[in-house]
Amino acid sequence: MSDYRPTPDDKFSFGLWTVGWQGANTFGAAVRPPLDPSETVRRLGELGAYGVTCHDDDLIPPGSDAAARDAILKRFRSALDETGLVVPMLTTNLFSHPIFRDGGFTSNRREVRRYALRKVIRNIDLAAELGARTYVCWGGQDGAESEAGKDDRAALDRLREAFDFLCGYVREQGYDLRFALEPKPNEPRGDVLLPTVGHALSFITELAHPEMVGVNPEVGHEQMAGLNASHSVAQALWHGKLFHIDLNGQRGVKYDQDLRFGAGDVKEAFFLVDLLESAGYDGPRHFDFKPPRTEDIDGVWASAAACMRNYLILKEKAAAFRADPEVADALAAAGVAELSRSTLGPGEGVADLLAEELDVEEAGGRGYHFEHLDQLALDHLFGVR
Ligand code: GCO
Ligand code: MN
Ligand code: MN
Repeated sequence: MSDYRPTPDDKFSFGLWTVGWQGANTFGAAVRPPLDPSETVRRLGELGAYGVTCHDDDLIPPGSDAAARDAILKRFRSALDETGLVVPMLTTNLFSHPIFRDGGFTSNRREVRRYALRKVIRNIDLAAELGARTYVCWGGQDGAESEAGKDDRAALDRLREAFDFLCGYVREQGYDLRFALEPKPNEPRGDVLLPTVGHALSFITELAHPEMVGVNPEVGHEQMAGLNASHSVAQALWHGKLFHIDLNGQRGVKYDQDLRFGAGDVKEAFFLVDLLESAGYDGPRHFDFKPPRTEDIDGVWASAAACMRNYLILKEKAAAFRADPEVADALAAAGVAELSRSTLGPGEGVADLLAEELDVEEAGGRGYHFEHLDQLALDHLFGVR
């Protein structure tokens, strides 16, 4: 058993807005003071993280002049150099300012859409400067409460226009940068455009440069829609589109809880880690969580450290599950590997298939033994094996 201390090789990253969340919500005021980005980098470095990410506005407060911007970037860069932390991903805040009350890329107002594109373009330049390889786009305000007020098909046209334009810009500049769309079913809008991983994957096929655009699934966002997050991630992997991932915890279909990773649906977290590790996902394990309002700054760092610790515990448990001979027997009894065998043999055609007979009564009478296998997984998770 290890001591579950993370190292940069584990590729754990955090958004400045996660540990930096001051706790203001719909009903309560901020409970914590602002965190200085350079200080955050140092603290994350001490905890064993590998990367830090941010929105444009998290790092450079809106309205900063060129001199202030340069000074902030200088301080940030020296914290990165000192700690060795990298910036694998950048993103844009297209939701806080009142101008985005009807969204960014899909606001009904053209001037707002043009402003949103300018804001993203400027931050893409910073992403390239900081060496980020992924640009996440979460369009939380791109949605509606009123079907009457939003033409969804036009909104999708504008969203496509935005990504075609942004991909064109990245290509022109020769940046090594890919986009990752982050789905969410609702919140802050009543209904958000591209609500699930499936919607995003299908939208990407309509783009001019689909190879430059993938997804950034967030565990809790799929679960808010009542979906199984590891199934969504598996499909993203299958399409070659898992460009990034937001790990956190959520319990059921309710508001976006953004609990620390592992603190939501533990079983789903176990199978998600098992999937990421066995599929060879080599991108950042990015935590997008919010330390609850109950916590002071010590609680914030305890919560951040726990995200990484829980990932490493689950990784160890998933490896033990896979190495267990009884699990190997149970996997065989459940026919799991047989699903990887093609349904038709080489050269087989319709005639071969039609010539075959099956005793459906006998075949229908046989069970699949999934319960025993699943319980072995739970036994590993509970620590009794
Ligand atoms: C949320 C989202 C955001 C995004 C972030 C990056 O529900 O608040 O998950 O945290 O991930 O804005 O674009
Ligand atoms: Mn969230
Ligand atoms: Mn997120």
